[in-house]
Amino acid sequence: MTARIFNFSAGPAVLPVEVLEEARENLLSLGSTGIGIMEHSHRGKAYDAVHMECEALCRELAGIPENYKILFIQGGASLQFGMIPMNLLSAGKTADFLMTGAWSEKAASEAKLYGNVHHAASSKDQNYSYIPQTASYSDSPAYVHFTSNNTIFGTEWKGEPAGYPGNMLICDASSDIYSRPIDVSKYALIYAGAQKNLGPSGVTLVIVRDDVVEMGPKNIPAMLQYRTYAADHSLYNTPPTFGIYIMGLVFKWIKKNGGLAGMAQHNEAKAGKLYDWLDQSKLFKATAARDSRSLMNVTFVTGDAKLDDEFIALSKKAGLDGLKGHRSVGGMRASIYNAFPPAGIDKLLEVMADFEKAHTK
Ligand SMILES: Cc1ncc(COP(=O)(O)O)c(C=O)c1O
Repeated sequence: MTARIFNFSAGPAVLPVEVLEEARENLLSLGSTGIGIMEHSHRGKAYDAVHMECEALCRELAGIPENYKILFIQGGASLQFGMIPMNLLSAGKTADFLMTGAWSEKAASEAKLYGNVHHAASSKDQNYSYIPQTASYSDSPAYVHFTSNNTIFGTEWKGEPAGYPGNMLICDASSDIYSRPIDVSKYALIYAGAQKNLGPSGVTLVIVRDDVVEMGPKNIPAMLQYRTYAADHSLYNTPPTFGIYIMGLVFKWIKKNGGLAGMAQHNEAKAGKLYDWLDQSKLFKATAARDSRSLMNVTFVTGDAKLDDEFIALSKKAGLDGLKGHRSVGGMRASIYNAFPPAGIDKLLEVMADFEKAHTK
């Protein structure tokens, strides 16, 4: 088998090897059933156990209160950009958005289809390189939406935004879900595409408070109403069974590795080492404001676009893939989600040090 390389992709992203090995075992036969995991009916007992275990582990890891439902939806986080306002916003009402990057912009632009959008804060003035410290909310927003980690710009909220009116806080946690403990009781709804910290693409995790499930109109298609998923453990139609299976294995791996507190410790150590090195470098520089730095996506530049390209090409030769920054910002981005191994950080530092030596006097 070809050796695995260090994959810094922003998503789909690296998965724990143990998870992939277990999945490989179960591709041909799930346990002793004689039927592979992808081939089991979603109405059968074998799959039901997989589904319920994934949901139970999801609840256990974050201590999700009983009055919240865990939903598995398709369509990516991008469908949630539209599904949230379709259910929670209407003409004449206002949704408040904390604008911290391209994903906030996409979410806000979908909301505009259903009602008013108010930008309560924005860091666009400095190319989204920081998390705003203050916000000016509208009087009575239908909800307040923020993006906890900005995958493209390498910034991350250190906690929930403070001082917003009401109890309708909504979070796109696509790129830092379960990378640290989270107090779910502070939220109305949290959503995340699985393909960064939780599993493969094709399944989106939605954690939603019971009262919010029931707020949506009933005259929209069933698949776009939260209550359809909430009523039957997301088994109204055929769910993305393989993605849910892998997500369950990832949850088991998180539990075995210290739960969400363990993930936070491990992520702080990995990102800390990388930022410390960048801070002393004579050539490379981290782009995000110091107090807003993401532990998941570390963005950096040399200050010379040609040199950046040279570094990316060299790192590829050294077995480091996916370091090119998002096409809208350039530079480099090291995406180092939960499953990214510390050895990959050491290798990156080694390659950067060699490159720096060759390009500085
Ligand atoms: C923060 C954030 N939100 C939303 C998305 C879009 O997710 P999807 O491709 O699952 O629709 C991404 C994708 O990278 C993301 O990083």
